Amino acid sequence: MGVVPPRAGPEPEPRNPGELLLWGAAGAALGVAASALSERRRSGLMNGKVVLITGGSRGLGLQLAREFGFGGASVVICARGREGLDRAVAELSGRGVRAHGVVCDVTDPDAIEDLLDEAERHFGRLDVVVNSAGIMRVGPQETLSDDHFRQAMDVMFWGPFHLSRAAVDRLRPTRGTIVNITSIGAYLSVPHMLPYSTAKHAWAALSEGMAAETAGTGVRVTTVVPGLMRTGSHRGVVFTGDPEREYAWFALAAGLPW
Ligand SMILES: NC(=O)c1ccc[n+]([C@@H]2O[C@H](COP(=O)([O-])OP(=O)(O)OC[C@H]3O[C@@H](n4cnc5c(N)ncnc54)[C@H](OP(=O)(O)O)[C@@H]3O)[C@@H](O)[C@H]2O)c1
Repeated sequence: MGVVPPRAGPEPEPRNPGELLLWGAAGAALGVAASALSERRRSGLMNGKVVLITGGSRGLGLQLAREFGFGGASVVICARGREGLDRAVAELSGRGVRAHGVVCDVTDPDAIEDLLDEAERHFGRLDVVVNSAGIMRVGPQETLSDDHFRQAMDVMFWGPFHLSRAAVDRLRPTRGTIVNITSIGAYLSVPHMLPYSTAKHAWAALSEGMAAETAGTGVRVTTVVPGLMRTGSHRGVVFTGDPEREYAWFALAAGLPW
């Protein structure tokens, strides 16, 4: 698997002192804005709440753990890899977030019950469940087997399906929320990502239906539809067909500034 090195551009023009001063002032203003933002983040809006996030060891799940934690919540993060979880818990704890990591494969329905038990036991309650765990396989459909589709459905449909169904009753006492991370790929099927789009499409349909059915019961279900995010997820993608070619277009898209 190869990565095309960035092409060297022309040498930058030296900046004059006035311009440097302007950039310095802009930097300082940004610093002030960032610290105001971080103050707002530490508003305590989530004080006393407990948030469970699947796929919380990296990417979007970890970023959500930071945000909830900065808002005052205690977070339970789950993933399959112990090492990534430990790293994430250490980072969160170092930033003052109460965090607990649980090794869990969301494709195992028994493990899901254990995960919910552990989250409630460790922090004493449960207020929010975020389904963020996801996998990606990229390649033309003729190179994909039934198993590739099954795996996508297991992680991104059956996993969150079991977790959400089990969580509804547990969230009723706290009038909690289920947050389902789907994808733009759920609504716009992306060529060479059919297992992903198929699973996300099914999951978005279920999530929206659950939102309607739980309305007024005290439990809220929210469907989140992200576009492309630079989470570094392309590093964990499995490529089929011509892997180098598939990696090239996917890594390019995953690194685009928007
Ligand atoms: N990145 C994007 O551009 C983008 C765009 C739209 C939607 N999304 C969605 O956003 C979510 C997060 O994406 P991301 O980019 O942050 O992905 P990521 O960086 O690859 O992180 C995926 C996370 O899910 C965990 N995971 C994978 N399979 C699991 C399983 N069977 N059981 C438990 N945990 C599992 C991974 O840890 P382990 O590998 O250790 O299990 C990891 O913590 C996904 O649902 C994705 O589809 C992403």
